[in-house]
Amino acid sequence: MFDRIVRRYDLINRLMSGGRDVAWRRLAARAALAAGARRVLDVATGTGDLALELARQGAPGVVGADFSRGMLGLAADKVRARRAPVTLLQADAMRLPFPDGAFDACTVAFGLRNMPDYEAAVAEMARVLRPGGRLVILEMTPLRLPVLRTLFRWYFDRLVPIVGGLISGDRDAYRYLPRSVSAFPPADELAQIMHRAGLHPVEYRLLALHTVAIHVGVKPAPPPA
Ligand SMILES: C[S@@+](CC[C@H](N)C(=O)[O-])C[C@H]1O[C@@H](n2cnc3c(N)ncnc32)[C@H](O)[C@@H]1O
Repeated sequence: MFDRIVRRYDLINRLMSGGRDVAWRRLAARAALAAGARRVLDVATGTGDLALELARQGAPGVVGADFSRGMLGLAADKVRARRAPVTLLQADAMRLPFPDGAFDACTVAFGLRNMPDYEAAVAEMARVLRPGGRLVILEMTPLRLPVLRTLFRWYFDRLVPIVGGLISGDRDAYRYLPRSVSAFPPADELAQIMHRAGLHPVEYRLLALHTVAIHVGVKPAPPPA
């Protein structure tokens, strides 16, 4: 599906979020780099926007991984154009081809929602973090506030599939989007999933009228022997 929508993917992101997705990735990158991370893995990197933002904020070694060749192709064009220190790699987030503890930080933006098993995906990202490393998850989050939820459902369930479908030529992909958000755990449940993956502390903030969340979890250092 992501291979099919790649051509207009960035444009539709900007339109759907009113341009705010750029600021959300900026915040996510800042959270990932807050403790001085140097080696950063951006999982489900797509067209590379978060990987590029991490590099722009000074990370000297960023790896962007995704399983869609089409998305990676566009990411590669952007990395080349900006001469950014970003290496791209085709990989499945459920089986990352890296040893335990390989990265100082790991990020995933609007990617976890698409994965077949959230618990296993979070555990796999936590695995590749070094002790003290941070996992940052930027994701849509199901709305709980009743009035806003009605408004948002109209926007997301009705308008987005029409506009996304017209611009991308793939209405099914933009029908999938609201379904994947409704099925995704609310922010406090995602924090619990991160806890169960061994991350502690886990904190999150809600953005954009509580429709988007940034979660940050730290992999604790093992107790001294
Ligand atoms: C909505 S896009 C997000 C792309 C990018 N992170 C961004 O912020 O725009 C979701 C991406 O997740 C990727 N993806 C979904 N499941 C994946 C998996 N199991 N392994 C690797 N990539 C995956 C898709 O190929 C797609 O590029």
